[in-house]
Amino acid sequence: MAAVRDAVGPGFPISLRFSQWKEIDYGARIVDTPGELETLLGILRDAGVDLFHASARRFWIPEWEGSDLGIAGWTKKLTDAAVVAVGSVGYDLDVMDSLRTRKEANPTGRAGLAELLRRFNAGEFDLMSVGRGQIADPQWVTKVRDGRFDEIRPFRRADVRSQAAP
Ligand SMILES: Cc1cc2nc3c(=O)[nH]c(=O)nc-3n(C[C@H](O)[C@H](O)[C@H](O)COP(=O)(O)O)c2cc1C
Repeated sequence: MAAVRDAVGPGFPISLRFSQWKEIDYGARIVDTPGELETLLGILRDAGVDLFHASARRFWIPEWEGSDLGIAGWTKKLTDAAVVAVGSVGYDLDVMDSLRTRKEANPTGRAGLAELLRRFNAGEFDLMSVGRGQIADPQWVTKVRDGRFDEIRPFRRADVRSQAAP
């Protein structure tokens, strides 16, 4: 990361995405405790990261007992960098169930955004990332902003045929 910072200079924003899970092992962890996360984030922040993107399959799942913060919320709490959250915005199945099973994810509509808003308003993250929603409908953000939920084209497994289970 320090080498990246050296290469791009001081004014260029660096975003780093990290994941507390792996496709072949949902239980895989790069850190086991908030203390370990703080150490990791501190090293990366000092080396030049401006924004952390904390990957999760479902953004609302608590990362550790004793708090309802997800991995993005913990990241926000433990660093002064900007934080992006991700994971199943607008859908009732996570990305791996979408890609690996024959089930289609159902849109959760306006109601599905309540928990996102609650956490955003609580300051748990600065930005929210949307994967399948944007793949299915490039106008997703505009339509959500305008409350046109009925006009959103739903994600279908066939949208990513080469990645999805047959
Ligand atoms: C077809 C497809 C390809 C993806 N490729 C990558 C990738 O190369 N790197 C990555 O970090 N995440 C990748 N993702 C994961 C997304 O970045 C995102 O974390 C995931 O789709 C969860 O967000 P969603 O629930 O809004 O879809 C991919 C997702 C999909 C559906």
